[in-house]
Amino acid sequence: MSQNTAPSGLTSIREHLARLRLPVVAAPMFLVSGPELVIAAARAGIVGAFPTPNCRTTADLERWMATITEACAGAPGLWAANLVTHSTNPRLADDLALIARYRPPVVITALGSPRAAVEVVHAYGGIVLADVISVELARKAAAAGADGLVCVSAGAGGHTGFQSPFAFVSALRREFDGLICLSGGIADGFGIAGAVAAGADLVYMGTRFLAADESRAVPAYKQMVVDARLEDLVVSAAITGTPASWLLPSLRANGYDPDQLKTAAARDYGGDAMRWKDLWAAGQGVGAVDAQEPVATIVDRLADEFRTASAALAARAAI
Ligand SMILES: Cc1cc2nc3c(=O)[nH]c(=O)nc-3n(C[C@H](O)[C@H](O)[C@H](O)COP(=O)(O)O)c2cc1C
Repeated sequence: MSQNTAPSGLTSIREHLARLRLPVVAAPMFLVSGPELVIAAARAGIVGAFPTPNCRTTADLERWMATITEACAGAPGLWAANLVTHSTNPRLADDLALIARYRPPVVITALGSPRAAVEVVHAYGGIVLADVISVELARKAAAAGADGLVCVSAGAGGHTGFQSPFAFVSALRREFDGLICLSGGIADGFGIAGAVAAGADLVYMGTRFLAADESRAVPAYKQMVVDARLEDLVVSAAITGTPASWLLPSLRANGYDPDQLKTAAARDYGGDAMRWKDLWAAGQGVGAVDAQEPVATIVDRLADEFRTASAALAARAAI
């Protein structure tokens, strides 16, 4: 089963993105984002995304895509699939075949060149955003045909970036006129307004949705996110070989001591499901999450904050 990618009444996905209720993507999170979160996000008027490795098999991915496609038809928001395009991903060809069939309006590539996805996604009129952590990777992604960049910056949850989000978006805006989706510790509507004012088209928020009712995080993980503050995080490459932002209490509960965290582990993009199951990641926006609640309630609050921040900016501009 496939769907028209152009939402009714709008001429293109790019226009739809510009008319979302809020310029926000509920970012893809390993073992956390499933159809429930994606559908709730699209129905609340933002973009809901999931990483395809969250489905153990191609058959599971097909079921998820069928469910999401049907549930998101006519929704004010959109859905997105996040694809690992690294050469070690044995499912890349199968995932791309399902993408061609179910036509997610937005495809986000990570850990490799977006080139293979661009060909498939452009053929049905979708757009490709490439996840990058540096200007150098951003240039490569743009040269490979990406329509937009997901700029993963300092403060992001999971595998993190290192540039200040403000410096990163400013540097990219000088040379890239495609879509820029900014991430890194942005967890309230004030931060969304700041990102848009700085030049971003969209904001990528993972941590803000970790404790949502529709998140697949286990209850103890959600509670840890609700309880955590900024000082409860550590960035370490000791777990997956790539620097990631972790909740310290979950590392301690699994027997890690802070000194062990200084040594990088061997890189492992594929077989780390067990580690992510017991060791819990979050970004620097964690302090903004103070309750477990439905995605719709979170988006309502973000919209209120965004309005307040926008009014404050307009008032300053009028002086
Ligand atoms: C628990 C967790 C799992 C994540 N898993 C993935 C993933 O599988 N693929 C990916 O591209 N990004 C992943 N990310 C990164 C997010 O997509 C996003 O870049 C990040 O959450 C944005 O920063 P924020 O958490 O400060 O909002 C993950 C983040 C978290 C917190």
